[in-house]
Amino acid sequence: MPPKNNKQAFNTLLGRSPAMEAVIRTAQIAAAADVHILIEGETGTGKELLAQEIQAASLRSEQAFIVVNCAALPIELVESLLFGHEQGAFTGAHERRKGLLQKAHQGTLFLDEIGELPLAIQAKMLRFIEHGECQRLGTSDVEFVDVRIIAATNRNLMQMVDSGHFRQDLFYRLNIVPMQLPPLRQRKRDIAELAEHFLQQAAERNQTNVARLSQAALERLKKHDWPGNIRELRNVCEHVSALLPGLEIQCEHLPSNLESSIKKAAGSSGFELPEEGINMESLEIDLIQQALEYTNGNKSEAARLLSLSRDAFLYRLKKHNL
Ligand SMILES: Nc1ncnc2c1ncn2[C@@H]1O[C@H](COP(=O)(O)OP(=O)(O)O)[C@@H](O)[C@H]1O
Ligand SMILES: [Mg+2]
Repeated sequence: MPPKNNKQAFNTLLGRSPAMEAVIRTAQIAAAADVHILIEGETGTGKELLAQEIQAASLRSEQAFIVVNCAALPIELVESLLFGHEQGAFTGAHERRKGLLQKAHQGTLFLDEIGELPLAIQAKMLRFIEHGECQRLGTSDVEFVDVRIIAATNRNLMQMVDSGHFRQDLFYRLNIVPMQLPPLRQRKRDIAELAEHFLQQAAERNQTNVARLSQAALERLKKHDWPGNIRELRNVCEHVSALLPGLEIQCEHLPSNLESSIKKAAGSSGFELPEEGINMESLEIDLIQQALEYTNGNKSEAARLLSLSRDAFLYRLKKHNL
């Protein structure tokens, strides 16, 4: 079967902020090019979903897609789990076994948290990537396997290279097509679409009516800084969806930790710069006019509301022709 066309395949990745568009364009090219790929991004930004989509859009779409979290592999078993072993290679190796690389033959191996791979295994992985050579534990024979590696990391691998914790040559071999998934706080315009999707999904799963976000609740979501990224947003949506099936969600229904992060995120003034920026000049005019309205045109009072001296206030009135 031919691979799904790119457009269709990347549809499950929601959000079309410019940063996301750029990632998807690169991913489409990379999917077709059949090169190894490195995806960088904070936890919950969609690295695994992107890897699945690249696989689905590639010529390997009908072959195996094997996921392995390098951080979760027991250190003494990493090598045999990845590369396989011969019978008797170590105590307890009762039979010859394939590793994940052999199992992924012709398909894709998703190496999540690749930064956690021990240095000795990184060397062996490099040999595989450079020559396709895979050597089971307990033999000097090599097998050739055809596997595309998609690696992911939430750490800064370049920094790990500098500190000697990640092999530079492996980094460069993987980083041919670098892809960085932006954190959710840098693509807040995608929040509405993502939240709607997760509310819909939760309702389908629970067989309830779909909950909706009030405008105020959506604004509140946009103010949160989302350290857990899309996964955290999904959890919030599942939470409110379970509590308020089919209802309109107000700010007070949102988890209280959203509130505290907003207070933290806003500067000491309590004012938070919106993502799209502001017009400083018109904001100043607006504030001056509001102060005058509050005080029925009393300039000294209005100046006090803005913590300005009367002279400084009068100067600004003149500057703006007010
Ligand atoms: N762009 C996106 N559109 C829709 N759902 C997404 C998107 N990115 C991530 N998700 C969802 O968010 C959750 C976390 O994504 P995942 O790929 O596991 O992140 P990571 O591997 O970076 O930790 C998953 O449920 C995933 O399906
Ligand atoms: Mg993950």
